[in-house]
Amino acid sequence: KMIKKGIILAGGHGTRMSPLTKAVNKQLLPIYDKPLIFYPLSILMLSKIKEILIIINKGQLNQYRKILPDGRNLGIKIIYKEQSYPKGLPDAFLLGEKFIGKDNVALILGDNFFYGQSLSKTLLDCVKLKKGAKVLLHKVSKPELYGLAKVKGRNKIVSIKEKPKKYFSDLAITGLYFFDKNVVKFSKQLKPSKRGELEITDLLNRYKKKQQLYADYIGRGGAWLDTGSIEDFYKTSAFVSAIENRQGFKISCIEEIALNNKWISKKNIIEAIKFYGKCQYSDYLKKLI
Ligand code: DAU
Repeated sequence: KMIKKGIILAGGHGTRMSPLTKAVNKQLLPIYDKPLIFYPLSILMLSKIKEILIIINKGQLNQYRKILPDGRNLGIKIIYKEQSYPKGLPDAFLLGEKFIGKDNVALILGDNFFYGQSLSKTLLDCVKLKKGAKVLLHKVSKPELYGLAKVKGRNKIVSIKEKPKKYFSDLAITGLYFFDKNVVKFSKQLKPSKRGELEITDLLNRYKKKQQLYADYIGRGGAWLDTGSIEDFYKTSAFVSAIENRQGFKISCIEEIALNNKWISKKNIIEAIKFYGKCQYSDYLKKLI
């Protein structure tokens, strides 16, 4: 039994990227040739997750529906839920209570970018999680910007902290998490921190206390970038452009992933080409069939 449901947290005010984010949500802004949201969505699809809840800001449903209607065009199911204001990452599980039901669930942050050779294999391993919680770690040179973990051996997490000022570890907790069904119950028990948000580290600590918090890795051959600032958008775009133009295939083309998963047929690709119109992305889709 594998995890079949996933949540993309795609709200937030994107304050650090104003004025770009005044009219358009951050996750709809471009990373090179496609909207940012395509990248985390691709990660869930590569994990063979077909039931997806996207959490967005109030009032932005029409914007999102224009680019990602209901998932049928990708052979998946997409539903939306609005968040009234950014209450913290675990709010995803309060808003998602009905969607999750009694199942295990994955969470990916809407602004996280993952790429790498053995990534699909790692993902397919993570969705096998039965009990507890699992996070993906990656070594970073500026640990103070992230949630961090200390590990014992390779896979057991002994301690975690959110953006500590003093050096603690250089293993960042990336924005992709896998949880068992207790996640809703545990999220309900959380209290806002000093900065007024529900903290993902507090939620992970519940699992750690029960000796049920596990780690896997985006190895050094893989890339994990988060796109919190304008500079990050620019650098991530350059990364995608370099790889796509060098190799001639696209990173996170959602229709290509759906086709490879056999969730859609050539007919759907032809419809997608019509939908996008005459553009470079459509030219790429044409080559797929
Ligand atoms: O990127 C990985 C990091 O993400 C982790 O290492 C940290 O432990 C984790 O707390 C988180 O830190 P950030 O400071 O990057 O989180 P941020 O508040 O920027 O939120 C990440 C995304 O989630 C962003 O696209 C906005 C969205 N979001 C955030 C919150 C708090 C929501 O949609 N609703 C929310 O309530």
